[in-house]
Amino acid sequence: MSLVRSFRIGTLEIAPGLVLAPMSGVTDMAFRRLVRECSAGAVGLVVSEFISIEGLTRNDLKTHRMLRYHPGEHPISIQIFGSDIDRMAEAAALVQATGVDVVDINCGCPAPKVVKKGGGAELLRRVAHLERMLRQVRREISVPLTLKIRTGWDEDAINCVEVAQMAEAAGVAMVMVHGRTRVQLYTGAADWDLIGEVKRAVGIPVIGCGDVVSVATARSRWERSAADGLAIGRGAMENPWLFRQIAAAQAGAVVPEPTVHERLAALRRYRVLLEEMYPLPVAAARLRGMTCRTVKGFPGAPALREAVTRTRTCDELAAELDRFESRAASESRVGEPPRRGRGLTAAFVASTDERGSL
Ligand SMILES: Cc1cc2nc3c(=O)[nH]c(=O)nc-3n(C[C@H](O)[C@H](O)[C@H](O)COP(=O)(O)O)c2cc1C
Repeated sequence: MSLVRSFRIGTLEIAPGLVLAPMSGVTDMAFRRLVRECSAGAVGLVVSEFISIEGLTRNDLKTHRMLRYHPGEHPISIQIFGSDIDRMAEAAALVQATGVDVVDINCGCPAPKVVKKGGGAELLRRVAHLERMLRQVRREISVPLTLKIRTGWDEDAINCVEVAQMAEAAGVAMVMVHGRTRVQLYTGAADWDLIGEVKRAVGIPVIGCGDVVSVATARSRWERSAADGLAIGRGAMENPWLFRQIAAAQAGAVVPEPTVHERLAALRRYRVLLEEMYPLPVAAARLRGMTCRTVKGFPGAPALREAVTRTRTCDELAAELDRFESRAASESRVGEPPRRGRGLTAAFVASTDERGSL
């Protein structure tokens, strides 16, 4: 089976069928651009972090800033969340007016503050309400409307097939399924057999999501589900080159694991992208978070992480990286991939293996 195919959302071609999954606090413009740069030509679609319809329709400035994207990001989908039908339709129209390619509604967020207000995964328990919402939003916008769901609320309420069929009938152009229930949060393994059931039950594209962290996991999930595309979340945080590695595998090529030097260069680039869009303290906080993830597996990583955690500004952090790089260069280690050879994702794959997901 071919590993990377393209698919269509309405008339929009997504090629290859690899999607950067929405991640709150992560998939902002800076991160999306970084992934598109590291995996040039191999990211079919990027999805924003989820954005509150309450904030959008009440004209909250901070929320509106979350709509920013770069012209080079197309095709791009903006995800919105909330519960009120009229506000959802109004917010979808606001999002469409920015010129995005796709509007996505979140039906998967498990956070209590979201589900208590009737949004996110709670919509999976209010299917009639969700159907009215989808139909109203569909009338309001002309760009494709898509849905991100979990498999159900809990194991006794698996309803992803029913929800996807309802969504298709209501005019939704694509469904992305994270193969866990709301109650599972991020525990256990994503159920790609259920994703396969959704794929067989509807005619619109179905994108599978959950635990894709390497070429091997991409291949096995794809083969198990026959999904039209794969969405990658945490794997992209650990390894923004992953899309390129998966796309290359299609052609029988191997993109080597990025070296320590390349990972440091990506962090420096990420800093520039962050500083273009945030006040400096916010940029520093986001850069610290990403750096701590990226340096996992580096020689001397614990000490570097500790030093990075203590920094307050991007300049201080950059100085730590410079010091680290000079030391590593003197030991001739910057040209190597991080420990384990297969890089950062190896640890994550190993941990998912232990959970029996492969
Ligand atoms: C930090 C974080 C934030 C997330 N935020 C969102 C979000 O805003 N909207 C959404 O639909 N899913 C969100 N998710 C779920 C991911 O899109 C994805 O479905 C999930 O992480 C499983 O895929 P993965 O194993 O590739 O990470 C988030 C996940 C993480 C780890």
